[in-house]
Amino acid sequence: MNMKNYVRFEFPSLPENVSFARSCVGAFAAQLNCTLEEIEEIKLVVSEAVSNSIIHGYDNRPHEKVVVMATILDNEVMEIMVEDFGKGIVDIGQAMEPSYSSDPARMGLGFSLMQSFMDELDVCSEPGRGTSVKLKRSFRAKSQAALA
Ligand SMILES: Nc1ncnc2c1ncn2[C@@H]1O[C@H](COP(=O)(O)OP(=O)(O)OP(=O)(O)O)[C@@H](O)[C@H]1O
Ligand SMILES: [Mg+2]
Repeated sequence: MNMKNYVRFEFPSLPENVSFARSCVGAFAAQLNCTLEEIEEIKLVVSEAVSNSIIHGYDNRPHEKVVVMATILDNEVMEIMVEDFGKGIVDIGQAMEPSYSSDPARMGLGFSLMQSFMDELDVCSEPGRGTSVKLKRSFRAKSQAALA
């Protein structure tokens, strides 16, 4: 697949940057052939992943680095990467289970949400080094997909 466009940015792990990252990727996604509802879904998954980096990766420490990259491939595929350099995840399988949270006050639905709105979810993590979440979704028109 050919890269058509990308945006990459980093910011400190301040809670107010969740909505910044979400809007930024949403605005970038507007060039895709997708509906406003689909853009809302993209925004939602970005805020879930960025919140996870801040809340879990950095235990809410406010001056750590979060990196977001969004790439558009072949005009129709959106790839999003959210990366932190925080504490990492010991058991990725368990973390991704619906309703699992290491914090009893949370719902444990972030990864499930990312999974349901995107075609692919890939989590790489190393304890003590950080976590990167890669999300991918195709917006190819159904009729075109059927022809391919
Ligand atoms: N970037 C991260 N760094 C470290 N741990 C993480 C990270 N992202 C997720 N986790 C771990 O995975 C668990 C599940 O994440 P998920 O987003 O599904 O639920 P949650 O954040 O606990 O709750 P919710 O998203 O519903 O508020 C978290 O509770 C946390 O233990
Ligand atoms: Mg979460």
